[in-house]
Amino acid sequence: MQQVAFYQEIFVSYLKIFTRDREPTSLYHPINYILKLGGKRLRPVLTLMTAEIFNCDYEKALDAALSIEVFHNFSLVHDDIMDDAPLRRGKETVHEKWDLNTGILSGDAMLILAYQLFENYNPVTFQALARLFSKTALEVCEGQQFDIDFETRDDVTIPEYLKMIEYKTAVLIGAAMKMGAIVANVAAEDQDLIYEFGKNLGIAFQLQDDYLDAFGDPKTFGKQVGGDIIENKKTYLYLKAVEFSAQEEETELKHLYSLNPKDHSEKINTAKQIFLASGSAEATKKEIQNYTSMAFQVLNKLNISQESKEALRSFGEQLMNRNV
Ligand code: IPE
Ligand code: IPE
Ligand code: MG
Ligand code: MG
Ligand code: MG
Repeated sequence: MQQVAFYQEIFVSYLKIFTRDREPTSLYHPINYILKLGGKRLRPVLTLMTAEIFNCDYEKALDAALSIEVFHNFSLVHDDIMDDAPLRRGKETVHEKWDLNTGILSGDAMLILAYQLFENYNPVTFQALARLFSKTALEVCEGQQFDIDFETRDDVTIPEYLKMIEYKTAVLIGAAMKMGAIVANVAAEDQDLIYEFGKNLGIAFQLQDDYLDAFGDPKTFGKQVGGDIIENKKTYLYLKAVEFSAQEEETELKHLYSLNPKDHSEKINTAKQIFLASGSAEATKKEIQNYTSMAFQVLNKLNISQESKEALRSFGEQLMNRNV
């Protein structure tokens, strides 16, 4: 198996062919813009790595990897509309650079392009990939809907939050890895274990995303810092702060999360202070570690080489310590 940077480079070259100019440009420019904007390429790298871990040439997994990344980018285009986000990867979001209709339709086309890539596989593999894709994509929609519904609720529980992030984020990371295993044609048991690994890592990943949304460095983060606070997102940071607060502070925090002021800087600063003072920032860090450890425990059950386990472990640790 190769280093992460190797798979990233291979993937980006493959993506170059995919993002060729096409008509109408008003549909395809935004698609190619978001796909070429960069990003960590975490999911496709995991697909390629998983195929190789299961002794299959990564080249066979390139279309599945591409499908996952195109789907992920589609979900970002629509997510940025729903979250009213101005910035993505340090650049304007699609609906800001163009307009709302462009974001909607280019996003729709990306979802179809993602699905279409499975046509490059034989019928048996096609069916397995398409089945996993449909299940996962529907769960992502369900997770996204919970996320939006929670904005206007003040009684969201931690289990509800965990289910929401499992659906909106973690299942796609699990599926990215399982697709590598499907292409490698391994036994169902191994497919399920690698999915479990990816899902736990994905939960840790979203917890970290929530943490960075509040505490990331605006110079390097690439997204609007405090965006979740502006949008009244019921993140782990918020929910734990509510849990750790006495009645009076809880009421204050809940009130803060019912406001939509024009100038959000004060709201953001107050919320961040509460997250730090209440211990919820610390609790979030701990939960990131917990889910990462749960992912590592799954590794023990997997029938793969020690070297591969080490590679997956170091990947998980890198994710935990990221700041983008
Ligand atoms: C952002 O995903 C959306 C989440 C699920 C948190 P990434 O953090 O993987 O975004 P890119 O692709 O690297 O920009
Ligand atoms: C992302 O959740 C989930 C999906 C895109 C499906 P977020 O809304 O937290 O992602 P970012 O922070 O905008 O990247
Ligand atoms: Mg968002
Ligand atoms: Mg969102
Ligand atoms: Mg986020």
